[in-house]
Amino acid sequence: TSWSAVDFLELAERIAREAGEMLLAKRPARPEVLATKSSPTDVVTALDRASEELIRARIKESRPDDAILGEEGGATGEGRVRWIVDPIDGTVNFLYGVPEWAVSIAVEADGEVVAGVVNIVPRGEVFTAARGEGAWLGGERLRCNSGVPLERALIATGFGYEPGRRAVQAEVLAHVLPRVRDIRRGGSAASDLCALAAGRVDGYYERGPQYWDWAAGGLVATEAGARIGGLNGRPCSPELTICAAPGLFEELHDLLVPLDPERDA
Ligand code: IPD
Repeated sequence: TSWSAVDFLELAERIAREAGEMLLAKRPARPEVLATKSSPTDVVTALDRASEELIRARIKESRPDDAILGEEGGATGEGRVRWIVDPIDGTVNFLYGVPEWAVSIAVEADGEVVAGVVNIVPRGEVFTAARGEGAWLGGERLRCNSGVPLERALIATGFGYEPGRRAVQAEVLAHVLPRVRDIRRGGSAASDLCALAAGRVDGYYERGPQYWDWAAGGLVATEAGARIGGLNGRPCSPELTICAAPGLFEELHDLLVPLDPERDA
């Protein structure tokens, strides 16, 4: 069978919507923390796991031979096609009932992301993108803001969970904040990248997000005209991800380089 990016997107969107409905139906008023990961603030709830299990089961029903990389379940299977799953991006928001958390699903074919969906469940917003086909919010085609200089740019960022990393991030932020319009810390990298695609922020940078946090949102942003990458021409990675329209991307990049934002305390 030869699936196109649009076929993958259709399946990914169906699954992300079903996981979102399950999460809305089952989210208790005060979800309980089940375990902590890299630090006491890096939490996982029972519903992170339930959401990933549902997503994995649905992928397997339609595409039993595909590989899956999930935040909670790790890497399983091998193959040309790989699904990158964050069952709840913005778990801390989910925990507190802040309406900005998302189910994020991307599909890679031969190592390249070809389809991505970010379902910002509490807002009922489903962002989609297929490689070469654009980025969409419902019926609206998205274009990121362009021509915004750094000093007028609204910049989204996020922080890691480990205290040493946070101390450095605060130092970097102290240099960035006086140079930009303002900073937003939304609490979900997937949602930040979709906000960028929709023109709700102008740029984004963060040290620390994992592939499942930005695989889908990164495609949404680039299909909306943004550039995504790391420092000094490297691809974006958990070391550092920068995203913005061309022009602002370079300005933000050049502001960050001397601050050595990839270091930890
Ligand atoms: C987190 C969110 C947050 C970002 C963190 C991520 P999670 O993902 O995307 O915005 O700042 O780096 O770990 O843990 O809620 O899936």
